[in-house]
Amino acid sequence: MANRLLKTALIGQGFMGRAHSNAYRQVRHFFEVPFDIETTVLCGRNQAALDAMAATWGWHETSTEWRAIVERPDIDIVDIATPNALHAEIAIAAAEAGKIVFCEKPMAMSAGEAARMAAAAKHVPNMVWHNYRRVPAIAYTRRLIDEDRIGRVFHYRATYLQESGTDPTRRPSWKTQKASAGSGAMGDLMSHVVDTALYLNGPIAAVAAMQHTFAEGRDVDDAALVLVRFVNGSLGSFEATRYATGCRNANRFEIHGSKGMAAFNLENLNHLQFLDATEPRNLQGPRNILVTGPDHPFSSNFWKPGHVIGYEHTFIAALGEFLRALAEGQPFHPNFEDGLRVHTVLAAIEQAAESKQWIELL
Ligand SMILES: NC(=O)c1ccc[n+]([C@@H]2O[C@H](COP(=O)([O-])OP(=O)(O)OC[C@H]3O[C@@H](n4cnc5c(N)ncnc54)[C@H](O)[C@@H]3O)[C@@H](O)[C@H]2O)c1
Repeated sequence: MANRLLKTALIGQGFMGRAHSNAYRQVRHFFEVPFDIETTVLCGRNQAALDAMAATWGWHETSTEWRAIVERPDIDIVDIATPNALHAEIAIAAAEAGKIVFCEKPMAMSAGEAARMAAAAKHVPNMVWHNYRRVPAIAYTRRLIDEDRIGRVFHYRATYLQESGTDPTRRPSWKTQKASAGSGAMGDLMSHVVDTALYLNGPIAAVAAMQHTFAEGRDVDDAALVLVRFVNGSLGSFEATRYATGCRNANRFEIHGSKGMAAFNLENLNHLQFLDATEPRNLQGPRNILVTGPDHPFSSNFWKPGHVIGYEHTFIAALGEFLRALAEGQPFHPNFEDGLRVHTVLAAIEQAAESKQWIELL
């Protein structure tokens, strides 16, 4: 049977526009799915930049008007990689037009907006680009938890540390303004921390938090620290900051359980530290596992064992698994409902920081 053709419109041609373009071009090389992807329309604001990017990445057409695109009957997928303030309007219009909708994180500007998006997208296949769930080491951690290799979790500690705020040459951008971004480190970095925590350690019962803005005159947070009580009884802490001098993209977690410990740092993407606490104590020590096969997540999709992968593969794998789920009529995660769960936690963190009180989520 012939593959179904999916005509794709990508809105936003910046950093994520390139990451998604690459995923569309590569996915069929690594994932066997009964679809052909056509990179049909690329949408942005600057025509010269659109022309250059369309030529580089093989987009058939360009446009500077997203509204005209989401209503086109020939378009199957609308993919949103714009500043956060535009996500809801585009996603709701695309879902109402019956499109498959992909949206970058943070999915929304607020939990209320996220709820409206999730409601609008209920009847169309959808995905939030929390791509880190498809880092093999993170997917493998999930498998270790499922196999009870961590045991009862005592502590879940996560930090997402960047240093962009400390660079005096960096000009303010949409990412540092409330009107276009909604928040600072919270939406940018903490949204990933929360999604990964919900994926690996389950729902959150309560949070206490503080937020801080270091840059004078800025109306979004530069850093946030959170104490977390998980429903499974474990204690957690989250930290997200743009002021971690010396850290380029240190998205880390450590999980300590009754049977083991797992630790990850995105700056060392192919590795997972694992300690098996069921071994004799005199033999115990963290293993530095190269999570590239055999029998590791996505190792059969990409290269032979020991042949490492990179950031771009996490987008290819997210898209590949979405398409596989679509073909099989199976649910895909993270979807807009998962995005709403993330925003519910982010809203509680903001409320906790503002009120200086613990906020219960249950
Ligand atoms: N998944 C991840 O790890 C990750 C990483 C970085 C950014 N993001 C998210 O991706 C989104 C985009 O971030 P980015 O870093 O690519 O930003 P960017 O500034 O590099 O690109 C934004 C793009 O949106 C376009 N745009 C702005 N207004 C538009 C409009 N009205 N119509 C059409 N296009 C418009 C701009 O022309 C630009 O091409 C954000 O939501 C961000 O939080 C996710």
